Amino acid sequence: MMALVVHFRTIVGALALLALALTASPAAAQQPNSVDPTKSAVSEEQLLQQFKAIQGKSRIPDTKSYTLEQPAGRDWRHFHEVTLRWIGAVAILGILLVLVGFYLTRGMVRIEAGRSGQVIVRFNAFERFVHWMTASCFVILGLSGLNITFGRPLLLPLMSPEAFTAWSEWAKYAHNYLSFPFTLGVILIFLIWIAGNIPNRVDVEWFRRGGGLLGHDHPPAERFNGGQKLIYWIVVLGGGAAAFSGYVLIFPFYGTTVETMQEAEMVHAIVAMLFIAAMLAHIYIGTIGMEGAFEAMGSGTVDLNWAKEHHALWLEEQSRQGAADPRAQPSATPGE
Ligand code: HEM
Repeated sequence: MMALVVHFRTIVGALALLALALTASPAAAQQPNSVDPTKSAVSEEQLLQQFKAIQGKSRIPDTKSYTLEQPAGRDWRHFHEVTLRWIGAVAILGILLVLVGFYLTRGMVRIEAGRSGQVIVRFNAFERFVHWMTASCFVILGLSGLNITFGRPLLLPLMSPEAFTAWSEWAKYAHNYLSFPFTLGVILIFLIWIAGNIPNRVDVEWFRRGGGLLGHDHPPAERFNGGQKLIYWIVVLGGGAAAFSGYVLIFPFYGTTVETMQEAEMVHAIVAMLFIAAMLAHIYIGTIGMEGAFEAMGSGTVDLNWAKEHHALWLEEQSRQGAADPRAQPSATPGE
């Protein structure tokens, strides 16, 4: 008799719990155990939960197109619309903030001894051509790429849908076609400057002394200092990674699947954001950050005092070879 009462209590308890669960979450209670995918009112969410992917049949030969949705695709969409925008915003706005802060506290790094009025050749015409070709492609690739990531939330509200479509179409053409001269530029940069960009002990010392950026120190450097070598390798490796992943996207399904294409897009986008941030720092130091730096890539020559302060070992070597003889390299505009 006692056992019967215990059983009865257990059954009543279980029924009470079930009733509670059903009233607490009516949505869950209505969830069917199996979904009929052909039913017109079935929701996308229910289908995905049930089948993991929404697939159909078609007469198109490309069987990949039969899959309309799959969980990995939703993860990718979340990456593209949320995570990537955060990565981009933090990287780009973060570096801009650091640069503005640095400029406001340190100001422009001046040529402390003043200009000597005598110059030395730093980059020849071919080197400058390669630099500017790669840089101008980079700027257009960056802006047209950022349009893919941020265009909809930031630009579309400011213009008509037709104007946004036309701009995006041109931006996409530019992104695809300028990838070729950009890749050529990265390869040429790798080849023409590799000799001066192998890291060595001089760079360790240069970094240890903060590159002389914070105080008024001038750690000796060869043709390229530690910071410039860092930029060089970012361009070579970052440019290489952006190009490789980019071509995987431009030429889809040559040995890739939807999943590997999504991975390539993620790699491409993250590399691009970090690359843009690094190049903003490079552009800063080459323009308003340091007196006398821009002309190295502009006219191709630098003031002797600039070279003495920032690349003392290189200047010594050039002097030994006679290249820094002021009579051999007269300044085009003395006292400039
Ligand atoms: C050889 C070089 C490159 C190639 C072949 C390439 C190709 C591509 C392709 C095919 C896409 C996808 C476009 C789409 O979804 O319709 C893309 C996206 C993108 N690219 Fe490039 N690209 C290259 C270099 C660069 C560089 C140097 C940058 C940055 C300066 C960059 C930034 C971006 C960005 C931000 C996106 C958008 C990512 C996203 O929102 O998913 N790309 N690129």
